[in-house]
Amino acid sequence: MTSTKKFLIINGPNLNMLGAREPEIYGSLSLLEIIKYTEKNLSAKCECVWYQSNIEGDIVTRIQELTKQDFNALVINPGAYSHTSVAILDALHILKIPVIEVHLSNTHLREEFRQTKLTAKASTIIMEGLGKNAYLMAIESQLL
Ligand code: DQA
Repeated sequence: MTSTKKFLIINGPNLNMLGAREPEIYGSLSLLEIIKYTEKNLSAKCECVWYQSNIEGDIVTRIQELTKQDFNALVINPGAYSHTSVAILDALHILKIPVIEVHLSNTHLREEFRQTKLTAKASTIIMEGLGKNAYLMAIESQLL
């Protein structure tokens, strides 16, 4: 019998504004709607713990806490901190579990400043441009 896998999903700044925020880029669903969509469509029973913060230090602390907790993988959309945060990069480097970085939009098609992804240097997998399927596909990548 396989045990239920446990995932922490971290969303960084402004992702609490999904739905209202540039829907032509990020889609019309709110974060809560994406959470419901993700959990409904998972191919296996998983335990998903969702965390969102607009504050860099709080995200660092939540990542650090993972070292004392029993999660199978971290899925993280660092939002704009992906492009700027050495602190989140350093925290991710501490982890021994897979880190899947997701971006709803395909940042390669966007502004130059989004081409730098500091946090991706500590990520096992990077997935971009999947919109509302981003979190679902990230978790599914660990269920294969
Ligand atoms: C984002 C892309 C980032 O460049 C942006 O700052 C975000 C959202 C995405 O999911 O596409 O906040 O991470």
